[in-house]
Amino acid sequence: MKKLTDKIVFPNGAIINNRIAQSPMLTNSGKDELVTEDTINYYGARSKSAGIVIVEYTSVSPNGGPSRSWARDREQLAIYNDTFKPGMKKIAEALKKDGNKAVLQLAHSGREAQYRHVLGGRVEVPSKIDFPWINYPIYELSEEEVWQIVKDFGEATKRAISCGFDGIEIHGANHYLIQEFFSAYSNVRTDFWGGSLDKRMNFAIEVSREIFNIVKENAPKDFIIGFRISPEEIHGDNIGYTWRESQKLVEKLTSLFQFDYIHLSTLNYKAKPIDSEKTLAELLGESIQSPTLKLVAGGILSVDKMKDAMDYTDIISLGRATLIDPRIAYKIENGKSEDILMKFDEESVAAACLPPGLITLIPSVPEFSLPGVEYLRTLATDELGTEVTHT
Ligand SMILES: Cc1cc2nc3c(=O)[nH]c(=O)nc-3n(C[C@H](O)[C@H](O)[C@H](O)COP(=O)(O)O)c2cc1C
Repeated sequence: MKKLTDKIVFPNGAIINNRIAQSPMLTNSGKDELVTEDTINYYGARSKSAGIVIVEYTSVSPNGGPSRSWARDREQLAIYNDTFKPGMKKIAEALKKDGNKAVLQLAHSGREAQYRHVLGGRVEVPSKIDFPWINYPIYELSEEEVWQIVKDFGEATKRAISCGFDGIEIHGANHYLIQEFFSAYSNVRTDFWGGSLDKRMNFAIEVSREIFNIVKENAPKDFIIGFRISPEEIHGDNIGYTWRESQKLVEKLTSLFQFDYIHLSTLNYKAKPIDSEKTLAELLGESIQSPTLKLVAGGILSVDKMKDAMDYTDIISLGRATLIDPRIAYKIENGKSEDILMKFDEESVAAACLPPGLITLIPSVPEFSLPGVEYLRTLATDELGTEVTHT
């Protein structure tokens, strides 16, 4: 019988104190993509939130972000050169001070890096398609430029290691560049990087290969490597990929490389595809090769759901719940689960140390909605100037 307080040993040797992960979540707290005091306060408050905390998506390349930003001091973070290291080191220290594992999510936002355009840079995509919701110029990467981004993921991993992170998570989900390459809707290339299902997998595989090589040479043996995936990409008639294709990618990745975990990004941990009685978590789980573990996120917003979700995954991944209460794992480990805060109000917001950019962002995105979000709206300090695209 699984318990939330079970110790978990990852395949490469890292040990965490419970079955709880904090999902990566943009804090919108960067200035010129650098970590600020707001960022450190937020992560410092989460040193007891979960056995493993996955830090928000961080750009590996100069044009890999920022996305979702709307103001110069509300930016996504980056790690594409050494100037970012001192701030990143502070995040790792803040998170690890009470024994949590700190993992950095590495990302290239691809076509979603709209703020790069606002800053005068270019927004990079696998294929220059007329996406109906994109209202800024996009640039189709050459074959060589894609290889450079593969290298950027490796260099970013090296920096994460030297900053003291216990691991990295490859962001292959949520419509960012790795997913864009895997999507038949977004990728219509005919070179090494596209043209068939196997070739659409190549970017995810080569990024993984580069990272595993860097880790082997530069990190302790138990350095954690995870991969995040959205189980399917279906928007009406536009089919980027099905769950069956995701199964193939996950099977391939976990047979080629010893990933510590595969992390499913969903809005509901019990979501089912239209053509199966099983949940996406179960279906994708069938393709994960042993000994790689599974993390599942999506709507785990109460203690009852935390317990129920263990039937679908090895480790439960909590996103928004940790925005409201940053000490969930601590309370569960100490038999105080009835004290977990479940809604935004004066008490919870004071303890949550949310950066102003996050206080403004949460009420503006309907899928992020949470109990007490109206209270949060009263604290928002500025308006979102850039239209927010889908997650
Ligand atoms: C404010 C906010 C920011 C997010 N930023 C990221 C991110 O940086 N990387 C990512 O993979 N997912 C991101 N997500 C998705 C979460 O990791 C998570 O998968 C999602 O919120 C569903 O889990 P939940 O229902 O427990 O919140 C974000 C979600 C929220 C609410």
